[in-house]
Parts: sequence; C-alpha cells; structure tokens
Amino acid sequence: MSIRLIAVDSGRSSTKVVTDGARDWFPSILGEYRDLKLERKMQRTDLVVGYAGQRYYVGDVAKDESVSGAQLMISSKAHMDTKIFVLTALHRVLPNKSAVFLVTGEPISNHQAGEKLRMKQLLLGSHEIAVNGETKQFDIVRCEVAAECATAGWAMRRPGRYHIVDCGSRTVNFATMENGRWIDRVSGSLDYGLETVQNISLSMFSRMTVAELSRRLGTLAPIVLIGGKASQLQEYFQQYTSDVEADEDAYYRNAQAFYELGVHALETAKA
Ligand SMILES: Nc1ncnc2c1ncn2[C@@H]1O[C@H](COP(=O)(O)OP(=O)(O)OP(=O)(O)O)[C@@H](O)[C@H]1O
Ligand SMILES: [Mg+2]
Repeated sequence: MSIRLIAVDSGRSSTKVVTDGARDWFPSILGEYRDLKLERKMQRTDLVVGYAGQRYYVGDVAKDESVSGAQLMISSKAHMDTKIFVLTALHRVLPNKSAVFLVTGEPISNHQAGEKLRMKQLLLGSHEIAVNGETKQFDIVRCEVAAECATAGWAMRRPGRYHIVDCGSRTVNFATMENGRWIDRVSGSLDYGLETVQNISLSMFSRMTVAELSRRLGTLAPIVLIGGKASQLQEYFQQYTSDVEADEDAYYRNAQAFYELGVHALETAKA
C-alpha cells in the first residue's frame, strides 16, 4: 500500500493542511456536541466529529453552539485537541484506510525531545474517526514533529542572513537563518500572539514585537513575515525596520514547509 504524505499545521486559530494536490483549513475550535432545537445549515467549516466514543463540534459550529467551544491557548500542542484536529484534517483530504506519513509542528520553544516524543505517542498508530456521519480509518505509520517558523526558514533557501517572524494567534516564533543554516542562539518563541494580547492595535502589536526582537537579536537583518496576518502587519513593521516583506504564501507557509520537509525526508531515505 502506498503511504500518503500529509502536513498539518495545528494552529490555535486554524488548522492548515497540505498534501499532494490539495490544501485545506478549518478553525481550531472544539466543544461538546449538543442536539440543536432548530436545524443549522451546515457549512464546510461546521463539523460533527466522533472519536473514541465521544461526539464533538469542531470549527464554526463549536464556536456558535457548544457551551464549552474554545480554542486551546496553552503553549504545548501535544494534547487531545491536536489529535482530534489532525484526524479531522486527514478525514477531510485523504481516502479511507490510508497509511499516512504525517508531518506536524510545535512552536520553536516547545521543539524539545520530550515534547516531540509526546506528540508522536499521541498521533502514531491506527485511528478511527467519524466526520459528519462518515467513518474513516487511518494508520499513521510515521510522524515527524517540525519546528514552526524554523522549517519555513529552511524551505525558503535564501542566501545571507534573514529572520522569519511568524505572528500566530498564540505564539510569535522567530527564526534566524544564515545562508540556509538555522542559528539557534538567535531564534525562539515569544509568549504572546495576535489573539492573546487584548485591546491593542496591529500598530502597537508590531511595535511590541520589534522591541522584543531588537532586544534579543540586536541589529535586525531583513525580515520575512509569515502567519495569517503577515500582509496587514508589514506596513507597521516597516515603520521600525525598513527591510520587511510579507511572504506571498504566508498563511500556509508553515504547512507547506512541513510538507517539503516530508518530501525531503522521503528523498533522502531513497538516496
Ligand atoms: N487571511 C487573513 N487575513 C487576516 N487575518 C487573518 C487571516 N488568516 C488568519 N488571520 C488571523 O491572523 C492571526 C494568525 O493566524 P495564524 O493562522 O497564523 O495563527 P495560528 O497558526 O492558528 O496560531 P499559532 O501559530 O499561534 O498556533 C489569527 O488571529 C487569525 O485570525
Ligand atoms: Mg501558526
């Protein structure tokens, strides 16, 4: 049986998926299932998920209709919500009974051996999941846990020194690359994101982030912004440091880079 390579970026705001010939996303919101008094016209981001004897709402319907509907904003991604989002992602784009090589990610500061092991233990193996009434089975035979943002820097393969700055909903990751090499000492995660700092404008968010980056990194090299709000943030970052661009595939950049890492791993194994 052929193995399907799939990349899932489990963002706290949305789950992004890249596989051969397909991309997908849905909001990373989960809550309890409840019977509705009036029928809801279900959209593509309204999901009823059955897993391990429990039923959940996932996506927009969880936000609207679950009493417990919420995005989980803890720093680690090695938890049950990620498992349900990953399996839901697989269900949406892969055929039933696929054998899967999954590449997923963690914020840079959580990219440690113990955390990666927890994520693999959570995801590897056989699973059965129902989405909107259809049951599928998957066998995750291989799982790699990449570092968000850093993998995007690797995949860009640019010359010289540059910083990738990934302004996520919960975490801001920054990775410094020099001629294709990752410099660990000047890379990391800031413990806030666009949806955890309350009541500040994009302008003040950008100022706060440039302040923190310049404190940690000194003189800033050119910056490539990724993440869902990259194009809106660019003009504000440019007020403080001139060489700033928004990546043209900013929203999917992490997921796309995870996918490219998976392709690279398969090619390296063949060689
Ligand atoms: N097309 C868009 N235009 C404007 N804002 C967007 C767009 N897509 C996403 N966003 C917003 O940008 C922010 C960051 O989104 P992103 O998808 O990068 O975060 P995430 O990956 O889910 O979070 P984290 O990386 O912290 O886990 C969120 O607040 C999201 O609502
Ligand atoms: Mg993200």
